[in-house]
Amino acid sequence: MRPSVRPPVVLAGGTGSGHWRNAGQCDDDQVPTLNDLARRAQIVAPDAEWLHALVSDWELLADLSFADLVLWAPLPAEQAWIALAQVRPTTGPTAFPDDVVGSVRADGEQPLLDAALIEGRICREGDPDWRRGVPVRHETIPVCRSGRVVAVIERSTNLDSARTPSRMDLAFLRAADDLAQMIAAGLFPCPASSPTLVRSPRVTDGMVRLGRSGKVGYASPNALSAYRRLGLTADLAGRELGPLTARLCASSTPRDDSLMLAASGRAHLETEIEANGSVVQIRAIPLVVAGVPAGALILLRDVSELRHSERELTTKDATIREIHHRVKNNLQTVAALLRLQARRMRVPEAAAALEEAVRRVGSIALVHETLSAATGEVVDFDDIVRQIALMAGELSAPEAKITPVLVGRFGMLSASVATPLALVLTELLHNAVQHGLAVPGGSAAGTLELTADRQHNRIAVTVADNGSGFPPGFDLETATSLGLQIVRTLVVGDLGGTLVISPRAGGGTSVQLDLPLPNADQVPPQTAAGPVQVTDRQATGTVEAQRSGQEADPVQVIGPDPDQALAPTRAPRRFSARRSSSLSPPQTPES
Ligand SMILES: Nc1ncnc2c1ncn2[C@@H]1O[C@H](COP(=O)(O)OP(=O)(O)OP(=O)(O)O)[C@@H](O)[C@H]1O
Ligand SMILES: [Mg+2]
Repeated sequence: MRPSVRPPVVLAGGTGSGHWRNAGQCDDDQVPTLNDLARRAQIVAPDAEWLHALVSDWELLADLSFADLVLWAPLPAEQAWIALAQVRPTTGPTAFPDDVVGSVRADGEQPLLDAALIEGRICREGDPDWRRGVPVRHETIPVCRSGRVVAVIERSTNLDSARTPSRMDLAFLRAADDLAQMIAAGLFPCPASSPTLVRSPRVTDGMVRLGRSGKVGYASPNALSAYRRLGLTADLAGRELGPLTARLCASSTPRDDSLMLAASGRAHLETEIEANGSVVQIRAIPLVVAGVPAGALILLRDVSELRHSERELTTKDATIREIHHRVKNNLQTVAALLRLQARRMRVPEAAAALEEAVRRVGSIALVHETLSAATGEVVDFDDIVRQIALMAGELSAPEAKITPVLVGRFGMLSASVATPLALVLTELLHNAVQHGLAVPGGSAAGTLELTADRQHNRIAVTVADNGSGFPPGFDLETATSLGLQIVRTLVVGDLGGTLVISPRAGGGTSVQLDLPLPNADQVPPQTAAGPVQVTDRQATGTVEAQRSGQEADPVQVIGPDPDQALAPTRAPRRFSARRSSSLSPPQTPES
């Protein structure tokens, strides 16, 4: 096919022989992208997409040619050429140690580029051009789309280390010529053959050239090794690759037509062959030269080790999940034992304490249950919160059921944050239902709101109820109860955050947590809702636990001041704790 030609660029003018200007320009003063340069060359969108597809796959041509490729486009307004993209071969030395992208060459300096553009055919230079003492041979390949030349590839071979070509070199060069002709005829890149995201095989991984009949004309040593690993004992040369591959795979995988199609080079395809315990990635590129089928290029890559590692990772992942599942089962057994024990207790306080323990163990089990279904060591904490809220709601009477309202999103959290936070929220929600919203002699009533505001590296959590508020004179220091001590130990010690308990505007209590997130969790949730302000920091009276750099015992009170209790004096109080405190028994004021 002889493509029609774009209006030729005027060949006169220029900036002087051999002088390249770097004229990369883009909107934001950054290194120009292919899009920026294509816009500068006034290349229309479909042509630019074609060039993108070409550039995403042209390393194949560079490797087969042992040559550098530079994609040039004419700059009609400036009577010059601009370099849009560049690729170096992995099979030979480069002819361009410097970056060429964005360079501008004046018309007339590059007769080969002009010739390819005007004549729409591959043009070769007779004598090599000497560049920095290195002989470089140039060729130009017009890039055609829909019968028009949209750009020109300059193929430059560094002849410095030229040697007598081997059989492999010749097979590569022949395949390169066929591909170059397909580019000039608008048949490459083929949209269907664009390489997949996972790295496609490269020429150096293994290459087989099939003839028109589907028989192997040449197989590179790596390609032969790949087939040996698939179980081939004979040679590949002269064999029909399609049926041969199908026979090798027959025992291990069900018959797959795409495999036969790919191995016989009849369609642009990328697939994987598994046989004899090995896995080989295979990419087929049918070749058409001068309108006639000319066999195919088959690229092969042995990915057995890669797949093996992937499978090992999957197995490891499954093992970790299984362990979380067992931990959850064991915690449930512990909870069941405690419950049994609670039922046998004669003293009601003792039975209640054991029931509390059951609840706490249950909230830890929740996290492990979620982890047993997750693929990593992170959990969707919103799922856990929903279940904790449900458990808290169940404490209220069925006729006046309190359903905690959840505002905002926690998003994904790693287990190291999720486990203590689940326990903390369990305590706070239960306190709100059991104490704040409890109505003497009746069932609990009111509203309970849990708000999460996740930022890049922190998360702010508020538990607010519109109940009775803390009893007057309540002092966290002298309180012998366990719930808030656990909360304080976990928030300040384990999570390294701060805890503020304050009266809520309009009545009730607001407990605010501000927690730093570990590096692994420092990504914003997909749809983080804005914070809802439910606290009134102006309100008098706070109890504040805050992390400080001091090495102190967990929840040790720094500078206790009896005047600073929540009520009636209502001034802030500070605590500090070691981060490693974990769930070591919190110190009570008596200790
Ligand atoms: N949201 C709240 N509204 C009103 N009072 C509360 C609230 N949260 C806690 N309190 C008060 O603080 C006290 C201490 O709470 P804490 O959770 O430490 O102990 P507890 O709930 O009594 O017992 P447990 O150790 O089983 O949790 C409670 O007894 C209650 O008087
Ligand atoms: Mg409590």
